[in-house]
Amino acid sequence: MTQLEHQDDNSEASGLKKDAQKAGARVGLTSDEIIINGGRPLMGRIEVRGAKNLAPKAMVAALLGKTPSVLRNVPNVSDIRVVAGLLALHGVLVTRGEEPGEWRFDPSNVEIAHHADIDAHAGSSRIPILFCGPLLHRLGEAFIPDLGGCRIGDRPIDFHLDALRKFGAVVEKLPSGISLTAPNGLHGANIELPYPSVGATEQVLLTSVLAKGQTELRNAAIEPEITDLICILQKMGAIITVEPNRVIFIEGVEELRGYDHRALFDRNEAASWASAALATKGDVFVGGARQEEMMTFLNVFRKVGGDFDIQDDGIRFFHPGGELKPVTIETDVHPGFMTDWQQPLVVALTQAEGVSTIHETVYENRFGFTDALNKMGANIEVFRDGLHDENRRVKRREFEQAAVISGPTPLKGAEIEVPDLRGGFSYLIAGLTAEGQTKVTNLGIISRGYENFIEKLRLLGADFVFEG
Ligand code: EPU
Repeated sequence: MTQLEHQDDNSEASGLKKDAQKAGARVGLTSDEIIINGGRPLMGRIEVRGAKNLAPKAMVAALLGKTPSVLRNVPNVSDIRVVAGLLALHGVLVTRGEEPGEWRFDPSNVEIAHHADIDAHAGSSRIPILFCGPLLHRLGEAFIPDLGGCRIGDRPIDFHLDALRKFGAVVEKLPSGISLTAPNGLHGANIELPYPSVGATEQVLLTSVLAKGQTELRNAAIEPEITDLICILQKMGAIITVEPNRVIFIEGVEELRGYDHRALFDRNEAASWASAALATKGDVFVGGARQEEMMTFLNVFRKVGGDFDIQDDGIRFFHPGGELKPVTIETDVHPGFMTDWQQPLVVALTQAEGVSTIHETVYENRFGFTDALNKMGANIEVFRDGLHDENRRVKRREFEQAAVISGPTPLKGAEIEVPDLRGGFSYLIAGLTAEGQTKVTNLGIISRGYENFIEKLRLLGADFVFEG
């Protein structure tokens, strides 16, 4: 089985293979590698589906219902398969609906799964941590395997475990994962997160909706994916009030039913293709993208010199000509500039006239990908302590925190290995922007968050060889 096997349109791979064979041009790539001939603008239309950072969590929510749930617009990315596997292990009947991207979950017969079977999913995703509350409600116990996800910092789960303990869970750390019980059931709690963590906010929501009594969550994350999860829980019968200043108030209910919901679009994927359009001097219509959830990105895109046209069914992102301009950005929680947007944008900034600064405040180590860009001709300096250190949330000084990008620097082809999801997509953009050939290896990581990206590159007229 190849790492890219799940990409559901094999016609791309076979089409390219045929072309390459006809031309006698097979170059012996593995299915995890691509060769990009850079310098051609990306032009055309692609579609984005539901958010990778919402859909798997909506699937976990289905465990809380007494009746089946339907989730629409589900992207074909690996977290979905991990969560579907874990749900099935716990007795949830998981089926595909008729519509593309439609999944159905029947939780009528939820049951305890064998630790060894759960353990098979160790290291594959971060989503399993969100099974804690729903499994405790349904079964009185939960076993969570070791987590996976991108290596972009420590990514601890202390906020999750502290919150679960406040609800009454007893947490035991085992060599292979975490075991939880709730001897006296779960009850509402007063929780203040040390930082507005997306995952910990979801943990609290998924646990509090069926907990006895009321929960007040302060310093909550308010990302659009969180709002969409709240909408799903409300459809299920939950009572959740979002108050000003990051306060969420949840009144526990006796039971919940299933939902029917269309997942919010993937704004991170949309922003990635927008950055690709800008860096390659292209023109890309991202079907399914919406303005509201991308306002902060759109402002920065415009400041850098990109332009966009907002339509009912998507957003057209294009390079209107002229020089790109440098920007200073600090990544932040919503409604700030998302950390997931910075890596693809950095490639466009290597083409801007002047000095740009990106200060990463969400993760401690999200600039490792810049080494390869420097190898390709970029001029990016990374400062371990950030550029100023007052009121920094992340105090650990051994990590890299700020990048200064001096441009414009023409990029030239190189062989580069994908380090993490967003860094990986930025390498595709770098290859598309560079003069000559770029070989990008370890592509499997990109398919964790970008559905059918090979097919989308083809649709946008990219010149590449992929033999997967
Ligand atoms: N943190 C803690 N303790 C915790 C939880 C978080 O210290 O218990 C720290 C993290 O180490 C990090 C910060 O809080 O420094 C923010 O982490 P958060 O919990 O908000 O992130 P997450 O839920 O693990 C999700 C997305 C990320 C996205 C972040 C921020 C998913 C599956 N992942 O991660 O997406 O960057 O929120 O918006 O939803 C990506 O898509 O490439 C990606 C990494």
